[in-house]
Parts: sequence; C-alpha cells; structure tokens
Amino acid sequence: MSANPENPAGGTDAVGPGRRRLLNVLLGGSFLAWAAVVIYPVIRYLRPPAESGGASESALSDEDKHKVQEESFVIIRLGTSRVIVFQDSQGKLKALSAVCTHEGCTVTYKKSEDLIWCPCHNGKFTSEGRVISGPPPKPLFAYQVTGDLVGTVTVSRQGA
Ligand code: FES
Repeated sequence: MSANPENPAGGTDAVGPGRRRLLNVLLGGSFLAWAAVVIYPVIRYLRPPAESGGASESALSDEDKHKVQEESFVIIRLGTSRVIVFQDSQGKLKALSAVCTHEGCTVTYKKSEDLIWCPCHNGKFTSEGRVISGPPPKPLFAYQVTGDLVGTVTVSRQGA
C-alpha cells in the first residue's frame, strides 16, 4: 500500500474528475441563466420600442381634422404605428410617433407649452420630437405632413 502525495491522510477523493466537470457545467449554466435574467430586462429598458411597419401614408378624415382644430391634436393609425398629428403654436401641422421612446406610453400635445408630453414619467419633447427632459432616451420619430385642415392632410413616413 503506497501513500497518495495529494491526499496524505489516505482517504479517497470525495469528487472525481467526472463529477467535478459536471459541477463546473452546472455552475456555468447557472451563471449564464442568472446573467440572462438580469441583463435582458436592462436591455429591454434601454432599447426604445421600434417603429413598426404597415401603410406608409394616410389621409386625415374630416373627424380627425375637426379634432385637431378643437383639441389641437389627434392620434391616428398609420399601418400599425400610432401617430400624433397636431398644429404647433405657429399653426404648422406636424406629425410624430405617438409612442414614447421610454416605455411606449402614448404621448399628448400640450398646446399651452407647445410641447409633446408623456404622462407616464413626465417625459417632454419639443414639437419637433427632440427630448427636452425626463427619461426618454431618443427623440420621437417624425412623419411628413402635407396639406392643410381646409383641404386634404396627408401623413407619411419620410422618404416613403
Ligand atoms: S413612458 Fe414616456 S416617459 Fe416613461
């Protein structure tokens, strides 16, 4: 009987190489699962909702135009996207994505301050869609508006 130099007490190894490898795989897998659970929500939080596709042009109905005149803005659908159409303090018609770039709440137009406001976390945008304050990480997507409230108003994706 010879003494094992790594185990002078003479006992047997509690964990063999096969078990050690299995434990390493399980620990590595657990770490990856933990990292995915922690990192995915952070990425979802930081990445704004994407503009979705669908139709690239839409005309305002008479009811929509009336709402813009009475309430200063209207929210329409352009394909699968929600678009806020409003008349700014200069009387110019503008259209921006109605989906806040923070967590996707629907924004409104505040005529008294000539800005776009998100009620969820008090995010504020200029009437061109640039972020003024609050948590939104990106500006609102801008759409092209042609026409006037007396005639036909058409909203389209720029470059469409
Ligand atoms: S969802 Fe608009 S500010 Fe948070």
